[in-house]
Amino acid sequence: MHVTRLKYVAILIVMGLCASTAQAVKPPLNRDTLTEGRRIYEQACAWCHGIGGEGDGPAGWFIGRYSSPRPRNFVKDGYKLRSTASGELPTDQDLFKVITRGIPGVMPSYRSLNEQERWQVIAYLKSWNPAFKEEQPVPLTFPSGPQGPTEAGIQNGRNLYVKYDCRVCHGDNGEGDGPEATAGHLRDTYELPIRATKLTDPSSFKNGASPQDIFRTLMTGMDGTPMPAYANEFAGQEEALWELVWYLRSLSGQEGS
Ligand code: HEC
Ligand code: HEC
Repeated sequence: MHVTRLKYVAILIVMGLCASTAQAVKPPLNRDTLTEGRRIYEQACAWCHGIGGEGDGPAGWFIGRYSSPRPRNFVKDGYKLRSTASGELPTDQDLFKVITRGIPGVMPSYRSLNEQERWQVIAYLKSWNPAFKEEQPVPLTFPSGPQGPTEAGIQNGRNLYVKYDCRVCHGDNGEGDGPEATAGHLRDTYELPIRATKLTDPSSFKNGASPQDIFRTLMTGMDGTPMPAYANEFAGQEEALWELVWYLRSLSGQEGS
């Protein structure tokens, strides 16, 4: 008990330190920041996302002109990878995370830019969409999960997978081969064909594959794609949502936390 509490305090201190380092390098929103952000953007991002941020950079076409995902249009698109409710803008931390990690298969990681440069480019891309000035995105808060999965919990998770029709898109065993997917019915917001994620392959998850990441993805959904948000279905039933998370983890043999 004591040890656990100490560990918890240590984690809080480390988190505090990280948060303050991130704050320390986050530059003020002024002309210098935007000028620097623009320079970095034009060097590192424009070839996919386009000089004007409209998702129409020359290299972007090679990703697949007639299929999803297209590089994001920062002027008007919504965002997939958020800690905020469906339909809302991402937080600065969400954007920082995407740029740091990249997106499996389609966008490189930009760890090679230092933190200040990543914040500068974020300030620049936000400047295209006036909604960022009007809204203050608020992350959803999630209760922490139970210690770990049980056989019965995973079985319950399986039942929820069936009950909520995840199978229709992701397939009976999570192989991404549900009837809607194989019939080619799945489309993104631009009517471009999109694949349902292979849930047996967590390295392809765009939003992270830790239990906390998967929990968050199911709460927020992936805007602009057929992947729904389940925050309403599981309101007040977070225990059940954790069981679904454990079931998804079991599909790739990751039973524990
Ligand atoms: C090789 C092409 C490529 C480059 C270079 C690239 N991106 Fe992307 N980016 C993409 C694609 C494709 C998507 C859409 C992925 C999806 O929707 O699944 C994307 C999506 C995004 C998103 C949206 C994430 C969300 O939540 O929906 C952000 C933010 C982003 N990119 C920022 C950047 C920044 C900043 C840079 C430069 C530092 C950059 N990208 C460079 C291809 C690229
Ligand atoms: C109508 C079709 C549809 C249904 C129903 C659906 N999904 Fe998805 N899901 C998708 C698509 C499409 C994607 C891929 C989105 C992308 O790559 O941009 C996805 C992505 C995911 C991901 C990967 C997220 C990531 O980080 O990349 C997980 C996990 C997931 N779905 C779980 C579920 C679960 C669990 C259910 C049921 C509670 C469910 N989905 C229901 C279509 C669906």
